[in-house]
Amino acid sequence: MTLYRGTFLDTPSDPFSGGTLRTEQDGALLVRDGVIRARGGYADLRREHPEEELVDLTGGFVLPGFVDTHVHFPQVRVIGGLGMPLLDWLDQCALPEEARLADPAYAEGVATDFVSGLVGAGTTTALVFGSHFAPAVDTVFAEAARVGLRITSGLVVSDRLIREDLFTDPDRAREESLALASRWHGVGRARYAVTPRFSLSCSERLLEACGDVLRTVPGAMLTSHVNENTREIVTVEELCGCDYVTSYDRHGLVGPSTVLAHNVHPTDPELALLASRGAAVAHCPSSNAALGSGLFPLARHRAHGVRVAMGSDVGAGTGFSLLKEGLQAYVAQQLLADQGHPLTPAHLLHLATRAGAEALGLGDEVGDFTIGRRFDAQWIKPAPNTPLDVGLAHATDPTDALARTFALGNPADVHSVWIEGDLVRETKPALVG
Ligand code: GUN
Ligand code: ZN
Repeated sequence: MTLYRGTFLDTPSDPFSGGTLRTEQDGALLVRDGVIRARGGYADLRREHPEEELVDLTGGFVLPGFVDTHVHFPQVRVIGGLGMPLLDWLDQCALPEEARLADPAYAEGVATDFVSGLVGAGTTTALVFGSHFAPAVDTVFAEAARVGLRITSGLVVSDRLIREDLFTDPDRAREESLALASRWHGVGRARYAVTPRFSLSCSERLLEACGDVLRTVPGAMLTSHVNENTREIVTVEELCGCDYVTSYDRHGLVGPSTVLAHNVHPTDPELALLASRGAAVAHCPSSNAALGSGLFPLARHRAHGVRVAMGSDVGAGTGFSLLKEGLQAYVAQQLLADQGHPLTPAHLLHLATRAGAEALGLGDEVGDFTIGRRFDAQWIKPAPNTPLDVGLAHATDPTDALARTFALGNPADVHSVWIEGDLVRETKPALVG
């Protein structure tokens, strides 16, 4: 067993429903086999467990590992393609790079960059948009397993209106998806996600095949895009003859295990449908800003009871850090003025941790530091004299410290990361006594 000493911040109760930031100052977590067995004040826990190995995380504070509910594995090397709206950015920036993953050796390098990018940003769980090429999807599952990252991912499928070298057909999509699921779903921390790219690029027969796979693989998730860009939405409505959410729902693809990214421009009936199905939306604020997609109507999602979590949407998103996404989420709501939802630091932490765990159906396992959860954690400990170090030195309380961290923090401030008690990243040796 290991005793971790530090200041622990988490959001087990939802700030959107009256919950607050939970803080354990000079606290301790007792971890055995990767699971939190006890928590409390350090002095008390140490007295009860005087012999256990001690990991001293004092200075800075410890957060639950981030849960990124929407991030594209093949796009890690094209982050920063600014200045284009969605459909132009896909054609000119994202999809040419995605086509390069036909080469498994190239895909392997991308997978390494991708997994280290996530872990380096304090992300310990992710719903990962895979590749159009099955061997590349094997590669990202293998790299995540090697490092220990908890991912849900799958084969991306499309059969119209994108470059032809990314096309599949319904039979091949079904066959390759089931083969990938049989290799990875439920193996270690991996799970399978059925992944139609977006209904713009998927025929009805292909979405039907996605429904078949979803029903065949118990516990599989469904992820895709929805209502991101006004030009895209008009095209989907013309092609499908219905609204965007219905284009998935009529094939049985919208349910409690569904996460749809963006939803910047939903209608009220679409929000009502998402809520009635128990589906979740991945809010990707830096991508929404970078592509000029729009400002996310969080208050309308809340009013309809639609579940919302956070996604980086790398590579339209501008980096892996959910600290940056939290700040961008806050800014977007400020810009919406009286249409916006005011966000406190506790809301931002909840969106980046607990809400993500719940959206991914992993709420019993991760997302906070409640007894019984896996110890997925990040130690925020900036180097001396860096902007966050200065900011934290002048914070008045834990909420203020968290606000400063969302404002100033970046992956360089994530000193160490644990997944299920295993140290998966460290910038310098932790103090072990
Ligand atoms: N819609 C379809 N594909 C994509 C993608 O790769 N990124 C974003 N942001 N939206 C999409
Ligand atoms: Zn996306």
